[in-house]
Amino acid sequence: MAIRDIVKDGEPILRKICRRVENFDDKLGRLLDDMHETMRYADGVGLAAPQVGISRRAAVVEVGDVYIEMVNPEIIATSGVQVGQEACLSVPNRSCMVERPMHVTVKYYDRHGKEHKGEYSGLVARACCHEIDHLDGHLFYDYEYKHGYHKVNV
Ligand code: NI
Repeated sequence: MAIRDIVKDGEPILRKICRRVENFDDKLGRLLDDMHETMRYADGVGLAAPQVGISRRAAVVEVGDVYIEMVNPEIIATSGVQVGQEACLSVPNRSCMVERPMHVTVKYYDRHGKEHKGEYSGLVARACCHEIDHLDGHLFYDYEYKHGYHKVNV
C-alpha cells in the first residue's frame, strides 16, 4: 500500500465525470488499498478516486468501524433530511453547511465485482453522498446551504 498525493481544488480532474470501472483486477485492488491508506493518513472520512488523480468511479468511506469500498456506486433511494458541516481533503481551509438525505440506499460493487446494497444513515450517508458527488465532478460547496437559520419570533 502507498499514500498517494491528494489532488487539490482547481485541478480539472475534480470537475470531470468519472468513467465506470470495467476491470475488477489487481490494479483496482491496489487503488482501493491506497485510497484507504491515504484517507486515513489525511484523517478523512471518505476519498474518491479522482482525488488521487484517477478518473474512475470508485470511492471509500470510513466512519468509526464502518468501512465501505464502493465501485460504480449509485444512490438508489433516499429519505429524510440532514443539514450539517462538510469539508473535503481536496478543498483545504473551507467548510460549509450542506443539506443531505438522512438515509440512503447505495448499490455498489466490491473490488471483486460482487454487487451489494447498503443502507446508511447520518454521517455515513453524508459521506456516501459527498464521495459519489466527486465521481460526477461535484464538490460540496456547490451545494452550500443558504436557506436556513432565519430567526423566528424575534
Ligand atoms: Ni471530498
